[in-house]
Amino acid sequence: MSRILPFCLLVVLTACGTTASSSAATTADVAADSAVDIATADASPDVAATGTDFNAQASDFTCIQKGTKIRNFYLTNPLGNLDAAVAVANNAAGGQYPVGTIIQLIPNEAMVKRFKGFSATSDDWEFFSLSTSASGTQILQRGTTAVVNQFGGNCFDCHSKADAKFDLICEETHGCAPLPFTADTIAAVQSADPRCP
Ligand code: HEC
Repeated sequence: MSRILPFCLLVVLTACGTTASSSAATTADVAADSAVDIATADASPDVAATGTDFNAQASDFTCIQKGTKIRNFYLTNPLGNLDAAVAVANNAAGGQYPVGTIIQLIPNEAMVKRFKGFSATSDDWEFFSLSTSASGTQILQRGTTAVVNQFGGNCFDCHSKADAKFDLICEETHGCAPLPFTADTIAAVQSADPRCP
């Protein structure tokens, strides 16, 4: 298993992708374009009561190595909340990541923090399954509790096992079942991101 899975990851990395326009949207924008994007959310968003949102588009997912590396994962925040996001990641007591945080372990998967109220079930995280190639990123699936990865694993099912104080972030010590990859294998997959120069 542990020898086959990394190979599968690299094969999937060769899949073709397209790009789309970027969006650091306000909730007013969300009201206009959320029908498809958040169709899998638990309930209709209360757009009137919320603040800033980050409704990620395919083009928002670029070379994973451009992010800030924290232990095994990479983190970015296109809304300018990077320092706050890094502070949460480095806080042993956990915490809630700020809106706009994009976290990736491997190029083909991402978690994005949406606006407060997006989904109480998923702690306002949106899960993404991505296809990546040298020409960019394609969104295969996005949502809260129904997104599965390229191996058929449900993102939320695994990540919801993390201790509540860690905001659905698993890492190696937060209570999720471990992945069958070593940190070295994860790093190798990150280095092989076809979108990186
Ligand atoms: C089999 C359980 C499982 C599935 C399915 C799964 N993950 Fe994870 N994920 C983990 C574990 C465990 C880690 C921690 C890996 C490590 O650091 O060793 C992780 C790490 C991550 C990270 C880095 C932050 C963190 O939580 O440590 C992101 C982002 C992530 N996964 C997103 C996803 C997305 C998106 C999907 C679905 C497309 C997904 N995962 C599916 C278990 C899973």
